[in-house]
Amino acid sequence: MKTIFAIVALAAWSMSGTAYGQECSQTIDGNDLIKFSLTEMRVSSSCGEVTITLRHTGMLPANAMGHNWVLAATADYIPVAQAGQAAGAPSFLPAGDSRVLAATAIIGGGEETSVTFDISSLQAGGDYTFFCSFPGHYVLMNGKFIVE
Ligand code: CO
Repeated sequence: MKTIFAIVALAAWSMSGTAYGQECSQTIDGNDLIKFSLTEMRVSSSCGEVTITLRHTGMLPANAMGHNWVLAATADYIPVAQAGQAAGAPSFLPAGDSRVLAATAIIGGGEETSVTFDISSLQAGGDYTFFCSFPGHYVLMNGKFIVE
């Protein structure tokens, strides 16, 4: 009986650990079809910092099929994406632009990158969008970022 309780307790602890990890540290994939694996990401406002890992599951190099993960207020995301396109390689982001709330580097097929950022300045229930700023990709590669 004691053993059963210990196993249940361990399972519960392990599940809560996983849930917490999924909220504050999340992974998203991008592929050669100009698609992210998620159209929505949710984080808890109790996460002081959030780590987003981007994996490029495709084969194409960064100069042909580059992906990054960029966060902006939804109202800013298209202007920022267009400014990023104008800024060009290697970041495809306007330098020092405060509308960019977080961003990874641009990666190519088989590569992985991550960004860790403070979400305390983000509003719970605020309207944020994540996207890829490689030229043209923001149209297909974007999703809602929700702080709960
Ligand atoms: Co892309």
